[in-house]
Amino acid sequence: MSNPNSIEHIRQDFVILDQITTNDCPLVYLDNGATTQKPRVVIDAITDFYRQNNANVHRGAHYLSDKATKAFEQSRTTVQHFINAPHAKQIIWTKGTTESINLVAASWGQQNLNKGDVILLSEMEHHANIVPWQLLAAKTGVVIEPIRLKANFTLDMDHYRSLLKLAPKLVAITHVSNAIGTVNPIKTLINMAKEAGAVTMVDGAQAISHFAVDVQQLDCDFYVFSGHKIFGPTGIGVLYGKEALLQDMPPWQGGGEMIDKVSFDGTTFNDLPYKFEAGTPNIAGAIGLAAALNYLNQYDRKQLHQHEVQLFHHVFDWMTRQPNIRVYASRDNNAAILSFAIIGEHHQDIGTLLDQQGIAVRTGHHCTMPLMSVLGVAGTVRLSFSIYNNQADAQAFIIALEKVLELLG
Ligand code: ALA
Repeated sequence: MSNPNSIEHIRQDFVILDQITTNDCPLVYLDNGATTQKPRVVIDAITDFYRQNNANVHRGAHYLSDKATKAFEQSRTTVQHFINAPHAKQIIWTKGTTESINLVAASWGQQNLNKGDVILLSEMEHHANIVPWQLLAAKTGVVIEPIRLKANFTLDMDHYRSLLKLAPKLVAITHVSNAIGTVNPIKTLINMAKEAGAVTMVDGAQAISHFAVDVQQLDCDFYVFSGHKIFGPTGIGVLYGKEALLQDMPPWQGGGEMIDKVSFDGTTFNDLPYKFEAGTPNIAGAIGLAAALNYLNQYDRKQLHQHEVQLFHHVFDWMTRQPNIRVYASRDNNAAILSFAIIGEHHQDIGTLLDQQGIAVRTGHHCTMPLMSVLGVAGTVRLSFSIYNNQADAQAFIIALEKVLELLG
């Protein structure tokens, strides 16, 4: 963002950032890929719900239940508009990205896929977009084929093209890599999948906080994301699906709002979206997520992302000049997520030495073990920027890492 005052203004909304950590060092939060911090309005929305409106939804014939239901359903509409879904009934509340993918794999997958059917994933998928398909494969005999990664950290489109000749039934792919930050050419990937006759599912967990997502423009069949990665609370997530697909899918879990009529002779199920929402939902979570989306809607999101990328470039350019550092990220088409290693050092040690200087990063395999194996490492150190990070954060990180390099000498 060109006006630094705007970032400082945003920063003030995230009160958690203003704190002293280990060794009297101010907190420098660069672990936004793991979870983002929450602005005051989100915390207030959740607190207000419990203070003023708490009741179960769609059940009670009373004033409070009516207020809670209205706020809950209004939150669904907020999500609908945020991703430009045609209808609010196409927004299914889940616990998060992982649950959304498990729902698609268990419901759509079991109904539509049979032994020998091919699913394309990519080598850069998070475990959450691998394991549910492996569980399905164990039950049904579907075959999983990963799209290869190139040395420049992008997907090998020639390999993708050749895999599409296998006539896959599903292409399930991440929009942005959580570990190396690559922004995939998602629209092209979807178009190619559709031409090959495949259903498409996009893991938007990392993308959603960095740029606007328009599911109608993407024309994907499913798009999934988590609230906590976009300044909302944990425990709430979204499954968007095309209506015809969702209508045909069987319910996943039973109980609560998902039923129409129950008898011991048989049960009929509720309409969308409730068919997939068994049990009391995370009402406060949905309301908190809507508050986060409304908060973001005040800003020019392109500008916010440019700001994140500027910080990323600043650190990336410094890092690539360091002889002992190996960077695992591409400079272009990156969502401001930077993985690296110090040659000969363990990633966890680097994380600890950074933490001792107040710098919060993630270390390890980032729930992407197949990707780490392609990169030939056990793990990396990952910093991931968000809208409230400023130049001082980027500089503090560089100074801290210089000290680590000096120390390890
Ligand atoms: N998926 C989250 C991450 O990448 C937890 O850190």
